[in-house]
Amino acid sequence: MALSRLVVDIHTHVYLPRYASVLRSRTAAPRIFSRSAPSGQTEDRLVILDNEPSGGRPIGPQYWDRDEKLKFMDKHGIDISIVSTANPWLDFLSFSAAQTLARELNADLESYCSTSPIISSPSATPLKRLYGFGLLPLVPGAPSASLPSAVTDLAASHPHIRGVILGTRGAGKGLDDPELEPLWAALAETGLVVFLHPHYGVGGQSWGDLDNGHVLPLALGFPFETTTAITRVILAGVLDRYPRLRILLAHSGGALPQLSSRLASCIAHDPVVASRLQHDARWYIGRLYYDAVAYGSAELGFVSDTVGRAARYDQQNGAHKAAVEGERNEGSKRMLFGTDHPFFPPLNDTDKWRSVVENLEAIDSVSGWSAEDKDGVQGGNALTLFNLV
Ligand code: URA
Ligand code: ZN
Repeated sequence: MALSRLVVDIHTHVYLPRYASVLRSRTAAPRIFSRSAPSGQTEDRLVILDNEPSGGRPIGPQYWDRDEKLKFMDKHGIDISIVSTANPWLDFLSFSAAQTLARELNADLESYCSTSPIISSPSATPLKRLYGFGLLPLVPGAPSASLPSAVTDLAASHPHIRGVILGTRGAGKGLDDPELEPLWAALAETGLVVFLHPHYGVGGQSWGDLDNGHVLPLALGFPFETTTAITRVILAGVLDRYPRLRILLAHSGGALPQLSSRLASCIAHDPVVASRLQHDARWYIGRLYYDAVAYGSAELGFVSDTVGRAARYDQQNGAHKAAVEGERNEGSKRMLFGTDHPFFPPLNDTDKWRSVVENLEAIDSVSGWSAEDKDGVQGGNALTLFNLV
């Protein structure tokens, strides 16, 4: 298979065995516990949110067993996965416990990836099937001076770890906290890709009393959380100070693309904020990366149009450069296929996973994307972003 046709899943999670045993040792969320199922058998349940509905969700080897990950990849034609620890990462630990566990889990993940099979492709450098996003001990109370060495150690001694997964709370005050300045500097310097992923949701006070299971927190709360977090990063001028930072947004950036011009307008009407920023808000939208975990072609097309238009925005004259006929869709170059595995399993064990089938079909049916654009989103863009070619 040509390298450009590889399928690369950049949004796929694991609870490594060491992490799963920490969750099993706990009595409060986040935790894994066993209970008797109505069938009489014992079942494991995962509870990761406070007040999680319906006693959490079922959990099994798909979450920790590497063979299960590889089987899932084989079943769906996924060549390479860039695997990240699932939420809530180390958020519930003290700084010193988080520091120790981060080191151990990063070593575990490096070996999970480095001992994975080599992919059969005509590549000059053989590629593995698994790469990873590491963890940083970025928890409430983390001293800002400790962060740069955590980043540089990760980059220097874990060749299969190509990024970090980051929640939205930072050291307790969110990602616009000035104390995080050394973190952004180190991340920009090393080139590790920052995968910004939600966990807490926002808007829970609006969910009402009807039992809607996980639908509202996952469908709306998660993406709204990402939208708020990245907007705060933009408004704090982080992308002005670190233009080389590479930030990948979960769930296609949530509502950010839809709200980008409104954001630009609100900033323009707020002189204090406007004077802090070097660019129109849409410039920042065109600097970010977006997973293609949106489950629909119309949504992917919209994100790529908005991101592409943002990338062509010319601040000097306040106009957009025209798209060049025959060249790749600019926005699609910043979008990357993902599955969110092992979340959202099929209800029947033998089925293919909707999260894969729908996201691949969505990529394939975006009107306005050429075959080259689609190959890029399916895998080629990831090979470039994660320095795999
Ligand atoms: N996807 C995730 O990554 N985490 C969840 O908790 C649910 C879906
Ligand atoms: Zn996810």
